[in-house]
Amino acid sequence: MEANSFILLRNNTTPHNGKFTWSSPSNIALVKYWGKKENQIPKNPSVSFTLDACKTTTSLSFAKKEKDNSFSFDVVFEGKKNEDFKPKIETFFKRIQTYLPFLKDYHFTIETENTFPHSSGIASSASGMSALALCLMSIEKEINPKITQEYFNQKASFLARLGSGSACRSIEGDLIVWGKHENIEGSSNLFAIKYPYTVHDNFKNYQDTILLVDKGEKQVSSTVGHNLMHNHPFAKQRFKQASENMTKLMDVFKTGNLNAFIDIVESEALTLHAMMLTSMPYFILMKPNTLEIINAIWAFRKQSGLHISFTLDAGANVHVLYPENEAEKCIEFIKNELVAYCQNGHYICDTIGFGAKLKP
Ligand code: PMV
Repeated sequence: MEANSFILLRNNTTPHNGKFTWSSPSNIALVKYWGKKENQIPKNPSVSFTLDACKTTTSLSFAKKEKDNSFSFDVVFEGKKNEDFKPKIETFFKRIQTYLPFLKDYHFTIETENTFPHSSGIASSASGMSALALCLMSIEKEINPKITQEYFNQKASFLARLGSGSACRSIEGDLIVWGKHENIEGSSNLFAIKYPYTVHDNFKNYQDTILLVDKGEKQVSSTVGHNLMHNHPFAKQRFKQASENMTKLMDVFKTGNLNAFIDIVESEALTLHAMMLTSMPYFILMKPNTLEIINAIWAFRKQSGLHISFTLDAGANVHVLYPENEAEKCIEFIKNELVAYCQNGHYICDTIGFGAKLKP
């Protein structure tokens, strides 16, 4: 599939006005995407669990305007007009206008809210950009009702990627691959796909408790972080390792080997942060409590024999992962020993989800 095949041809009539609402989840990568080429093309493949509770709901209202050469939109975040998100959305619109030539025909009102608290340190770009991309695809579907569900999802993922790379993995669930991998049929750098092979029951309803260690703004954005992978001394080796870890995870998904899963996923999280530590300029996104939590998880895993593990995003928060049938004991441990390391004791219990939903 070429990017050009996602261009909507301007030969149909377009609606005068309307409104669509989508709710789209966040996702957590198991093999991390860190480093990209032009046009949001990843340097290595990644795979993620789609989340369920952490999501963004976005309503997109649209009304025909006098056609001029500009984008016209307002953003309302959690009930209040918001100017801060506008530059990112303007950039997104510029990147996708070739594929959605109707964008300049409308004035849009984008009303959006997250289920997770604002500035919780949980990135809302994946859920936010995917929700917006899906609303735009609903307009395309109204213009061209013949498009298939497969095309709808692929193009939604393709568009979301141009808003924020990892957002392309938030359209569907529960296990999602983005980036070309030689052993994964249908995998693409342009959009994400559902993991196409059988997954062992050990991974059904996998749990993710997100410990909010630091709710402040990140000191270094992921855009800056990705760019620091250009000329990074370990970049080449890192991209190769990510591909190899994908291959290893394929075997893990098949066999349900939880110990091997833990080794790969924790190594991926620490490698992501190792890339930050060894960038020039270098930076640290983990906080002292991130390390306290990691050490406590390791000690508890050793003592209990449970399959509890962690992964990290580009921030200080810790995603604690464990299988559903070990949930009771893991939650007890989290409440008794880990919540003390969270800012104001805040944490979110989430589980693997099945993707975005159109709201009536
Ligand atoms: O989607 P971005 O550009 O914000 O990059 C996110 C990268 C990580 O969250 C650190 C890893 C990943 O694969 O999601």
